[in-house]
Amino acid sequence: MPLTPGPEHKFSFGLWTVGWTGQDPFGPPSRPALEPAEYVQGLADAGAWGVTFHDDDVVPFGTGDEDRAARIRRLSEAVQRCGLVVEMVTTNTFSHPVFKDGALTANDRGVRRFALRKVLRNVDLAAELGARIFVMWGGREGTEFDGSKDLHAAMSRYAEGIDTVASHIKEQGYDLRIALEPKPNEPRGDIFLPTVGHALGFIAMLEHQDIVGLNPETGHEQMAGLNFTHGLAQALWAGKLFHIDLNGQRSIKYDQDLVFGHGDLTSAFFTVDLLEHGFPGGGPRYEGARHFDYKPARTETLKGVWESARANMESYLMLAEASASYRSDPDVAEAFARAGVLSLGEPTLGPHERVGDLLADRSAYEDYDPDAAAERDPGLVHLNQLALRHLIGGRR
Ligand code: GCO
Ligand code: MN
Ligand code: MN
Repeated sequence: MPLTPGPEHKFSFGLWTVGWTGQDPFGPPSRPALEPAEYVQGLADAGAWGVTFHDDDVVPFGTGDEDRAARIRRLSEAVQRCGLVVEMVTTNTFSHPVFKDGALTANDRGVRRFALRKVLRNVDLAAELGARIFVMWGGREGTEFDGSKDLHAAMSRYAEGIDTVASHIKEQGYDLRIALEPKPNEPRGDIFLPTVGHALGFIAMLEHQDIVGLNPETGHEQMAGLNFTHGLAQALWAGKLFHIDLNGQRSIKYDQDLVFGHGDLTSAFFTVDLLEHGFPGGGPRYEGARHFDYKPARTETLKGVWESARANMESYLMLAEASASYRSDPDVAEAFARAGVLSLGEPTLGPHERVGDLLADRSAYEDYDPDAAAERDPGLVHLNQLALRHLIGGRR
């Protein structure tokens, strides 16, 4: 029996996901394009709670003001009719050739000013539609050739751009936060802010860092060979997990944008385990949308598009069930204790203890028996095998 998604799960999709017609560098579309309102309807039928979009997904680049207003009205009516929300809006600063060498970090100042205007106009739209998150993915911010940009100036212009957008949000009093989306490469040979870690370091340098956080994507961290769940954890720890792009990726290669769970399944299990149950010892939780940024495979017809949309939510719900049974399993509690998982929550220094007290504590060093400590068997393989039993379904 497939699990049924409902509004309580906060599942959302980009219109560009189901809207991808299969065009890639090697061939033309393999299926027709529908109207934005039809994608909204299809996502609602599939059980989604929200939709997201780029400006250009709804209003093609270069559309006149009147036509733009009509298109936005049609989208908005469809969203309302279907009982959905627009939870996030984002800007396309990568498709039109004007952005071929970057938007906020283009060498050409005119391009940078044009890009900022396009983003600011879209911030106003996001606020108008009630979105709470504004994603900024700088797909063309980067290089193929290291000599082609002053890399120091590029960081300064990137920061200037984000701070300008953030100051507009504050000046207008919008209830909106910016979420930067890291990606290591594609379409550029090397994209700026390639990983969660780079982006966190960048945010810490911003003037308006209080309203700037992250939108990490499963496949993007995995394209860099990194652990997505660790990235989420560090973003949560830093108070910066504002949004999330869930999908599937199998190892270091081009951006696959597979259905969530169709890539590294064990990693997906621990992602859902963190999102649904938080850290074992408590701590910050992610309360935002479960947003899917995937591409229905080019092999699929429209039937397969809707099947694949459902598959993302079903994968998530199956993993959530597996994770719930894992977390409530007494054997897992015992394995946690053996591994000392909860002991890590205890501060290394005692209450009021200072570094001088640690230096004076002979039991911590002079009299400590490292060999005895090294003999302890934490049972980590056993613990992981328990996770697998729940994941694969041996235990319910
Ligand atoms: C990609 C990105 C995009 C962004 C989107 C939102 O690799 O193409 O993930 O899909 O998420 O543009 O800004
Ligand atoms: Mn992607
Ligand atoms: Mn994405």
